Order: sequence, then C-alpha cells, then structure tokens
Amino acid sequence: MAARRTARIIAAVNEKGGVGKTVTVINLGAGLSLKGKSVLIVDMDPQSNATKGLGVRQDGDRPSIYDVIKLPEPVSARSAIVNTGWEHLDLLPSHVDLSGLEVELVDEPGRENRLKEALAPVLPDYDFILVDTPPSLSVLTVNVLAFAREILVPCQTHPYAYGALDSLLETISIIKEGVNPHIRILGVVATLFDQRTKISKQVLDDLRSDKRLQGKVFDTVVRMNTTVAESAYYGKPVVFYRRSSPGAADYLFLTEEILK
Ligand SMILES: Nc1ncnc2c1ncn2[C@@H]1O[C@H](COP(=O)(O)OP(=O)(O)OP(=O)(O)O)[C@@H](O)[C@H]1O
Ligand SMILES: [Mg+2]
Repeated sequence: MAARRTARIIAAVNEKGGVGKTVTVINLGAGLSLKGKSVLIVDMDPQSNATKGLGVRQDGDRPSIYDVIKLPEPVSARSAIVNTGWEHLDLLPSHVDLSGLEVELVDEPGRENRLKEALAPVLPDYDFILVDTPPSLSVLTVNVLAFAREILVPCQTHPYAYGALDSLLETISIIKEGVNPHIRILGVVATLFDQRTKISKQVLDDLRSDKRLQGKVFDTVVRMNTTVAESAYYGKPVVFYRRSSPGAADYLFLTEEILK
C-alpha cells in the first residue's frame, strides 16, 4: 500500500508589515505547483491579500477560513477550499470577518489549536500547505504557529525590517516551549532587494553573518521588481503572469532551494 503523504506545513511570518510575506506565499505556492507538487495556500490574514493575489473573489456566500475555525458550528476545511484555476494550487480563502476572531474565541479553551484541528483532515491531500499571516502577533498568528512545522521569514533588506527579527526569534522560542515543540525556522529570505542601494547590501550581509540564524538565510535574494506588484494587482502569481520577469526567476529559484 502506498504510504499516505502528509503535507509539509510552512508559514510565512514576520510581525513587520509589507515585507513580502504574501507575495512569497503566493509565488512559492505557484512555483511548487509548477513542479507538480500539490499545494494548499491558507490565507490567515483578514486583509485577504493572498486571496486577492490569487484572483479569488470573496463573495458573501462562499465559506472562508473564518467559517472553518470559528466556534461554535465550524464548517469543514474541505468545504471551504477552492481551486485557484491553476493545476495543483488550491486556496483556503480569507475573509474580513477573521479580524473578529480574537474577541470571539477569547473564552474558548485551546483556542490556539483551532487551525491545527480544523486542517488535520486535509493534510494527506497535499504535499505543501503554505500559510500567510497578518503583520501582528494576534490569536490568528498564534494559531498558525501552533499548526506550522516550518517558519519562513521574509525579511525586507531594510534596516527597520531587520530589527523585527529579534521579536520574531523570541516569539518562536516561546512557542517552541509551549504550544508547538516541533516548530523550526526553515529560513530567512531577503526580499525587496534594491541593487542600487548600499543599505540593501549591508542588511543582506548582516543577515548572512547573524549567528542566531545559523546560516539559515536562503541564497535566493528577491529583487525589487515592479512586475511583482503588478501581477498581484491582476490577481496572478508573478511566475504565471510573466515567467521571464526577475521576480518570477527569483521565486522559482527559492522554490528549488526549498525542494532541495
Ligand atoms: N519583489 C518585489 N518587488 C516589488 N514589489 C514587491 C515585491 N515584493 C512585494 N512587493 C510589493 O510590496 C508590498 C508588500 O508586499 P506583501 O504584501 O507581500 O507584504 P506583506 O509582508 O504580506 O505585507 P502585510 O504585512 O501587510 O501583509 C505589496 O504591494 C507587494 O506587491
Ligand atoms: Mg500580507
């Protein structure tokens, strides 16, 4: 009998906003799907940028991740998952209602395990589950940290973005001692790299020599590329929107590194 597969669960986390979490999740997902891997993207951000960036419209009736993790009477994860229109690439869409969950779950025991419990039945359906998170340490992010096995840290090559790593490393060590002993850092990926500026290069050097990261910085450096932002506007991963762009090349390179 063939072994049942179980998904690698990777979450993009950085409490700082605008560092490329969503773009990384979408394009890594697209890159992996191009490699024939079966991928589910879970959009845990009420801003719903991953949902929009994959061209999925949120109409009123369609269940979302909110309906899957809410209490009481959640719906099944399978009933909320949609195909994006690209082969091997599914989405569990977000909804703005997700922002209310913090308050709604406040009295629920075990509330940090809602995502993990709700997605357990679909783990054998996928090779990869990639989770996008909001730029805050809310109950939503804690649910993601309780569920994920591997943390991918997109880090903008900008001095302020680098500072956010301190807080993230501390959060991960607290999570490891409590809700999720299996969690580990998969790696840091440098994003929004601007070749023209000295500071981009300096931050990249600092990341690569940071002892706390133990060399866990990907060789991939995602360059600043307007096609990336443009593709998001049109609801397509850049690797499908314009395969010849630098943005697509960088994310396909990251895909290879993660599959290695
Ligand atoms: N390599 C890139 N080149 C140019 N623009 C980019 C690149 N990566 C991301 N962007 C743009 O930068 C902005 C922030 O990226 P993104 O939304 O992925 O960040 P985020 O960390 O998910 O933000 P938030 O914390 O708000 O969710 C977006 O407008 C996105 O289109
Ligand atoms: Mg985002």
